[in-house]
Amino acid sequence: MKYSFPEHFWWGSASSALQTEGTREGQTTWDYWFTREPNRFHNGVGPQHTSTFYQHWKTDIQLLKQLNHNSFRTSISWARLIPDGIGEVNPQAVDFYNQVIDELIEQGITPFITLFHFDMPMAMQEIGGWENRDVVEAYARYAQICFELFGDRVLHWFTFNEPIVPVEGGYLYDFHYPNVVDFRRAATVAYNTVLAHALAVRAYRAGHYAGEIGIVLNLTPSYPRSQNPADVKAAHIADLMFNRSFLDPVLRGEYPADLVTLLKSYEQLPACKPEDSALIAEGKIDLLGINYYQPRRVKCRDSAVNPQAPFMPEWFFDNYEMPGRKMNPYRGWEIYEPGIYDILVNLRDNYGNPRCFISENGMGVENEQRFIENGQINDQYRIDFISGHLTWLHKGISEGCNCLGYHMWTFIDNWSWCNAYKNRYGFIQLDLDTQQRTIKKSGEWFAATSLNNSFDK
Ligand code: BG6
Repeated sequence: MKYSFPEHFWWGSASSALQTEGTREGQTTWDYWFTREPNRFHNGVGPQHTSTFYQHWKTDIQLLKQLNHNSFRTSISWARLIPDGIGEVNPQAVDFYNQVIDELIEQGITPFITLFHFDMPMAMQEIGGWENRDVVEAYARYAQICFELFGDRVLHWFTFNEPIVPVEGGYLYDFHYPNVVDFRRAATVAYNTVLAHALAVRAYRAGHYAGEIGIVLNLTPSYPRSQNPADVKAAHIADLMFNRSFLDPVLRGEYPADLVTLLKSYEQLPACKPEDSALIAEGKIDLLGINYYQPRRVKCRDSAVNPQAPFMPEWFFDNYEMPGRKMNPYRGWEIYEPGIYDILVNLRDNYGNPRCFISENGMGVENEQRFIENGQINDQYRIDFISGHLTWLHKGISEGCNCLGYHMWTFIDNWSWCNAYKNRYGFIQLDLDTQQRTIKKSGEWFAATSLNNSFDK
């Protein structure tokens, strides 16, 4: 069967500043944490070992063109542009981002730009990071500077990439700096991130720029083990905590009432100011980026909560390992292609069918060298992964969902936070020793799909 996509469908990939660029003036939490605890990073490889986009941006953009990308998302590094987060703008950074943006446009690739992709300037973290409203203000200033510098050419802006991840990693589950385990502080970080988002949207609207502004959320549809009311309730609470805590403010302009009631009853609500609600309402977006990697399967808890244990989302559910689920064993994530359709249908039916696109989807695989045939990685599993998701996305579009494109994570194998280079995601293989780039079979498949605006399966 032939799967054709709407005209002007966005085909591309996503990456981020910290994971690709390399050396920069301003320190981030990642640089600092690595000096403190290198053992937290796979094989002790830290954020200085990137795919060197800062040096190779021009030839890398040629590779994007070879992959027939018509669009590409990366982020601006706040710490590169404003090394201490709040002071002087670094002119070399302005030159660099201007060159990247201009070259993308020159090559017919529409730049999509994220303002924050997990990379907090260390100077901002030192004064409390997202827990401090001064950092929220500093971010809003940074956003405004970006709009002023690049907003004449960048027409698709994203305030945050997966804003819940720094909340989970840094304040609940100990996989990002500052490694705090404290729900109320996590809720404060999440809340202040929403305020920062809304301030950036307000600044963008005030500047009357020609483009649009949105956010990128990692949506994990929550599936209950069964239709038993206890399982359904568990899935509902997981959905409130992990999806709707950001989805509702940015699409409806307010938090779900039952999330507020729940957190209030456990005394976990962050400190709010009376003027916040009006600001949050101003944060409604034009375009939603959806990162989809895995579903969340839950069931009601089997055991009573230990009242001495720190308050956690898991007080309300247990994770459920569905028998027979398809796994990506390297990343430990379930592969469930219909999830992409369920997300789109939920947006269509419950959120007014917003303009959206798949901003990340991908499969990290370990030791891909074993699949080399005639000098090229034959990653048929990745082609199957992509085409499997695209068929469900296609079904969503054919049923009226407003999905405008599909971006993969990522174009060249890059450094992946604590996993460093353990799992490779790229359309292009990166040789870490020589920095040589070689297109994988999936890259060729994607280039053909983008060119034809269709694929056969
Ligand atoms: C997304 C992020 O969560 O998934 C990326 O936006 C990240 O930054 C990607 O690299 C893959 O996840 P991981 O943890 O395997 O790198």
